[in-house]
Amino acid sequence: MSAVGVLPFKREVRLVEHVAPRISTEGEVRIKSLEVGICGTDKEICHFVYGAPPEGFDYLVIGHESLGEVVEVGSDVRGFKKGDLVVPSVRRPCPHPNCQPCREARQDFCSTGDFTERGIKMTHGFMTEYYVDHEKYLTPVPGNLRDVAVLVEPLTVAEKGIAQAWEVQKRLPWVLANAPADAKGTGLRAVVLGAGPVGILGAMTLLRHGFDTYVYSRSKKPNPKAELVESFGAKYISSETESVEALADRVGNIDLVYEAVGVSKISFQVLKSLGMNGIFIFTGIPAPKLAIEIEADNIMRNMVLRNQVAVGTVNADRQAFEDAISDLGVFMKRWPDALKSLITGRYRMDNYHELLLGDKSGIKNVIALD
Ligand code: BGC
Ligand code: ZN
Repeated sequence: MSAVGVLPFKREVRLVEHVAPRISTEGEVRIKSLEVGICGTDKEICHFVYGAPPEGFDYLVIGHESLGEVVEVGSDVRGFKKGDLVVPSVRRPCPHPNCQPCREARQDFCSTGDFTERGIKMTHGFMTEYYVDHEKYLTPVPGNLRDVAVLVEPLTVAEKGIAQAWEVQKRLPWVLANAPADAKGTGLRAVVLGAGPVGILGAMTLLRHGFDTYVYSRSKKPNPKAELVESFGAKYISSETESVEALADRVGNIDLVYEAVGVSKISFQVLKSLGMNGIFIFTGIPAPKLAIEIEADNIMRNMVLRNQVAVGTVNADRQAFEDAISDLGVFMKRWPDALKSLITGRYRMDNYHELLLGDKSGIKNVIALD
């Protein structure tokens, strides 16, 4: 069957003939690919700055943001049947017996670095017609989310990030004590850096958690992303027209920053303006570039004097996938048009070159296989 392959040793990205996988242990599920989202990580892999093929292969099948349909289940599979919609997670555990996180199904915290990631690091991904996975790596998706469920994986970035934030902010019990259980951010202010899919989905998640939410992104207003962001109740501020200081004046105490821009300069400028007891969540993975200057003394002073925390988060555990699917259902009720408009184009697999290496615009572009 056909798949989109990256051949780093030959510096090629092309359609490859990939052997159709079969169920090999009874806990496995065979899945037909319905949709695969494309993100910055895929583009970096296609520029050979990231990613690696599995051992014994000269290509890596890419694609890690998948929605699929179950076509066959092994005899031990309990949670799925033919016809079910599923989203697979990305990380797979390392083999080391003493890696406690991996042994406890928390490979997102793998302590050896020998984890693999489907479509990214040493395991084939989902940009192909069929794939097989163990049921423990799959989360079921209700049928009413069919049109948007390809957004689950990027949404898990926000879900795990916010779960981490609540873990850390348990140190402020008086904040959580006063807020409703399903909107713990009520009365708090969040800034999202970046208005790509991870940023916009992050803004929706923060709003849904009760935060007063500001999206800080480059393009001047008016622009389509600003309109989209404001259509669901976040405020959009352009970094071209408002400095970080002006942003901080507008927002007031910045309780949380959700970084989804992958640009270090602006991130560290905003870190300097984080508020009292604030938390800064990093999700971007910038390619290493020349060193930049940052106001290290001021950042360090503030971190101490304001009790701040900066935390990095890589996705994601099973709970984050379940939370993403449940929140997607909430977004679908509250903001159906905004949510659907995140998917700006559906294309056939033949268009892979333009999508991955061209400059196709849009928010989230998707390869649709059915
Ligand atoms: C993926 C994550 C992955 C990360 C690092 C992201 O684009 O969504 O699942 O862990 O890249 O490889
Ligand atoms: Zn991605």
